[in-house]
Amino acid sequence: MGQMIPDLPLPAPAGLRMNGLPKKPQPPPQDASAAAFTDAVIAATGPNANPRLAAIMPSLVRHLHAFAREVNLTVAEWSAAVDFLNECGKMSTDRRNETQLLCDILGLESLVDSITSTLLSTSTSETPSAILGPFYRHSAPLLPNGSSIIQNLSPSIPWHDQALADSAHVSGRVLSSSGKPIPGAVVDVWHAAPNGMYEQQDADQPEMNFRGRFETDQEGRYALYALRPVAYPIPEDGPAGRLLGLLDRHPYRPGHIHFIVSAPGWRALTTQLYDARDEYIGRDAVFAVKEELVVRFEPREGDEKARWELVYDFVLGRV
Ligand code: BEZ
Ligand code: FE
Repeated sequence: MGQMIPDLPLPAPAGLRMNGLPKKPQPPPQDASAAAFTDAVIAATGPNANPRLAAIMPSLVRHLHAFAREVNLTVAEWSAAVDFLNECGKMSTDRRNETQLLCDILGLESLVDSITSTLLSTSTSETPSAILGPFYRHSAPLLPNGSSIIQNLSPSIPWHDQALADSAHVSGRVLSSSGKPIPGAVVDVWHAAPNGMYEQQDADQPEMNFRGRFETDQEGRYALYALRPVAYPIPEDGPAGRLLGLLDRHPYRPGHIHFIVSAPGWRALTTQLYDARDEYIGRDAVFAVKEELVVRFEPREGDEKARWELVYDFVLGRV
C-alpha cells in the first residue's frame, strides 16, 4: 500500500490564490442553504432508527459538515482521508488495531475513557482510570503475592543491567471509597520490557513476561516485583505512524505500568501509573497521563531483589 496522504501543497500567501490572484470572496460557512442541507441529511433518519443513534447522529453530522465547511475540505483531501481510514482497517487484526491507534493519537480513546469514568463513578475518591491500550492479554498467570512478574532475567539479555537498576517492589491496598479494604480483588498488571517492547512484540521474551495477576489478602493488600517502566514508541510502521510524522509529532509514551483491578460487586478499574522521572510525562503521544496517576518510586533498602519501592492504593467504586 503506497503513501495514502498526498504531499499537501504549500499554502498560498494570505489573501492570494496559488496563482497569485486575489482570493475569491468565500461564502459564510453557515449560510441558510448550508444549514438547510445539513438539516436535510439529519432529517433523513427514519422513525424506527436505533434510539441511541437517532440521538447522537444529528450532532455528528452537524460537526462533520461544520468541519468540512470551516476548512474548505476538497474532494482530493476527503478522498485521501477515506483511503487512510481504509488502510487503517485493512491493517487491523486481532493482534493489532490500527484504527484504535489512530483514535489514540487523536486523544479520542483517552477522552472517551474520561467521559465514561465520569458517567459511572460514584465518588471523587475513586482512582482515575486510563486507557487499556492494545497490549493487554487475558489470562496472565495468577501469582502468589510477593512474587515477581520478571521471567528468566539472565546476564545474556541485552537489557539485563538496566533491569537490575530498575528492579522495583510494587505494593499497596485495594480499598473502597470509604477506605475499607477489599479482600479477594484481582490486580492484573503488565508493562513493557526495558527495550520498550511488550512480550508479544518481542520474539526474545518468554510468553507472559512482565505480566501477572495477584489476589489481595484479608487486608486488601497486594505485592509484587516488577521494573520501573521505560518510555516506548507506539507502533509507527502503519498509517497512524505516518500521520504522526506528517504532524511533526513524536511517538513516545512515558514509562507506565498498566493495571486492571477488579472484584465482585465493584466496578473494574483499568488504569496506568506513570513514573514521575520520565521525560515524556507532559507529552504522552496518546494523551493518557493524569496527575493523580503520576507516582514517585523511592529507593528500597535491604532487599536484594529490588532497588526501588512503590506503594500505591487503588480505590474502587461500587457497580
Ligand atoms: C499502551 O499503553 O500500551 C498503548 C496505548 C495506546 C497506544 C499504544 C500503546
Ligand atoms: Fe503501555
